[in-house]
Amino acid sequence: MVYDIDMLRKFYALYPERVEKARKKLGRAMTLAEKILYAHLYDEANEGLEFRRGEDYVNFRPDRVAMQDATAQMALLQFMNAGKSASAVPATVHCDHLIQAYKGAGVDLPAACEANSEVYDFLKSVAAKYGLGFWRPGAGIIHQVVLENYAFPGGMMVGTDSHTPNAGGLGMIAIGVGGADAVDVMTGMEWELKMPKLIGVKLTGRLSGWAAPKDVILKLAGILTVKGGTNAIIEYFGEGTASLSATGKATICNMGAEVGATTSVFPFDEEMVRYLRATGRDEIASLAEACADCLRADDAVVNRPEGYYDRLIEIDLSSLEPYINGPFTPDAACPISEFAAKVKANGYPQRMEVGLIGSCTNSSYQDLSRAASLARQVKSKGLKMASPLIVNPGSEQVYCTAKRDGMIADFEAVGGVIMTNACGPCIGQWKRETDDNTRANSIVTSFNRNFAKRADGNPNTHAFVASPELAMALTIAGDLCFNPLTDTLVNEQGEAVKLDAPQGETLPERGFTVDDNGYVAPVTDGGDIEVTIRPDSARLQKLQPFAPWDGKELTDMPLLIKVQGKCTTDHISMAGAWLRFRGHLENISDNMLMGAVNAFNGKTNCVWNRLTGGYEAVSAVAKQYKAAGIPSIVVAEENYGEGSSREHAAMEPRFLNVRVILAKSFARIHETNLKKQGMLALTFANKADYDKIQEHDRISILGLKDFAPGRPLYAVITHDDGTTETFEVLHTYNEMQIGWFKAGAALNKVNS
Ligand code: F3S
Repeated sequence: MVYDIDMLRKFYALYPERVEKARKKLGRAMTLAEKILYAHLYDEANEGLEFRRGEDYVNFRPDRVAMQDATAQMALLQFMNAGKSASAVPATVHCDHLIQAYKGAGVDLPAACEANSEVYDFLKSVAAKYGLGFWRPGAGIIHQVVLENYAFPGGMMVGTDSHTPNAGGLGMIAIGVGGADAVDVMTGMEWELKMPKLIGVKLTGRLSGWAAPKDVILKLAGILTVKGGTNAIIEYFGEGTASLSATGKATICNMGAEVGATTSVFPFDEEMVRYLRATGRDEIASLAEACADCLRADDAVVNRPEGYYDRLIEIDLSSLEPYINGPFTPDAACPISEFAAKVKANGYPQRMEVGLIGSCTNSSYQDLSRAASLARQVKSKGLKMASPLIVNPGSEQVYCTAKRDGMIADFEAVGGVIMTNACGPCIGQWKRETDDNTRANSIVTSFNRNFAKRADGNPNTHAFVASPELAMALTIAGDLCFNPLTDTLVNEQGEAVKLDAPQGETLPERGFTVDDNGYVAPVTDGGDIEVTIRPDSARLQKLQPFAPWDGKELTDMPLLIKVQGKCTTDHISMAGAWLRFRGHLENISDNMLMGAVNAFNGKTNCVWNRLTGGYEAVSAVAKQYKAAGIPSIVVAEENYGEGSSREHAAMEPRFLNVRVILAKSFARIHETNLKKQGMLALTFANKADYDKIQEHDRISILGLKDFAPGRPLYAVITHDDGTTETFEVLHTYNEMQIGWFKAGAALNKVNS
């Protein structure tokens, strides 16, 4: 068994009691998110406190931790410095991000095992030493594996990946965090989160035809935008929820990350019971059924939601159209009926060059079976695939089951290449073969994210996200303007044919099957296991603690870069080829902010160097400032650090002596990551002050000697001509976080 059933028995024995206690003390009905959060308070004495949503920091005690290989390296390097002999809660490591997709699983997986052996050996030995479960390369993508094995209704977990909320499909509060947060939980310390606001999404009706669970979140992304869910939990309710499969719910929760939500969660229902039983977790299903009322919002909430949620949205599943979102941002939502006009109006390349299905977002049995039903129509209707197809199964279990049930053969029959059960093209690990890299081109994926360069590293690729069935239909047509609901295709006999709506089973009739799930259980006593890091390694490097604050104001810092427009964690610390350095802070810092656009010249990775007067790469300039003992500052626009949980995006600037990120606003995970690494994450009190920053400015941040929660700091800008301007800058640091800043990093406090 890959999970600890005793722990779960204990959990379900206590959970209803804790919820009941909180409800009594609060004296009111509770939402589902509140029930789970209150049942996981670190300090039970706080159970009846009415926390101010969006304001109060609260300490929690999550049940488990999951880490993917690209972020686990840094998380575990930090954990090793915490002086513990084992993880305080069950935790797992999943090898999914480092595998490059090229020729297909048969070739790519052995190649990845060889290329990454040093990192895999490191992760495996750390897992064995500290009692963590280890999922080998090829076992599957973290969120799919968690859903199949670890997620449980009413539970709370953190994961070092922004799509950790995927587990909300099984009624769990699952939150994406940086590695330092994971270390807090693994060391048994309190884990801090600002009490999230609640967005209630009422689902009515029932999906039919081409509409898929993915379309719920694609539509919602258009409503909320990439920032609309910041510091909020999206809680779904209403009779429409019960008609969605558990895996469909997981897809919706997964992509809550695209609107910046802290997490998303669905109420416990029969579909979750079916999924738990189908994945060999009968006892958990029964335990959850026994306290079902505590795993849903109270009736009073469902009947009068406006009194309980900070924002309410209603979506009618019966009238929901398939959506296709993009390019370059997942909130550019468009119903399929309007998409062709959008493509033409914006001059997007109409030819659909590659279709990609699968990933952590959309590789359930239901997803693959619905897409396979379309693949079968290629032959039955005399059609030819117009574009190549790539399939990324989410886990070995899904792959083996899909293979047994003929779906893998269906995809292969239309030329589909089956990649390793891993992230691959979803994280830039795609060795794409194209005739011309400089040509604007379009791809459609069933993934969750579509930032520039995300899939293939090519800024000319216009990536659109859709359901697997819609991605499949567009791949058959090879035409972005094809609407399978209304349009016909011409088959090899010259006849006009229409694709039938996709059909598929939610769960395999014959049950799931897997030969070897790829799990390596933790050993009971790993004390003697030695974890070695070669001093000359290019991929792994022991972490040195960051220096504490010297007690002085930060004065006359040169502006390293004024970023213009979107700056995601991909822009700050690119993935793709750089993934190989995720365990080596010094080496990966060479990619710092290389994707960010310099507001003064419109170029990427080209900034002015105060020491030489020339223009160089961002990291090169930062290194020279660091060598000269000069701290620097980065200025940015809205939602800085949007996207993933990778803390390298915070650690790299810290390592290269950038002390302050001054932005119009921050994405939640990234802001926390910056604080944890001892950086100053500040916002403009007046956003128009961004325009005052000039290329040759020196900037001071004053007021640090009286740094206190809620008290603004001041920025003094000295322009090239000697004139100065002063304005207020804000922060959200509480006492504990100010302590992290003063100590140099949160980890320095764990050790103190
Ligand atoms: Fe992997 Fe993409 Fe999901 S990178 S974890 S498949 S978002």
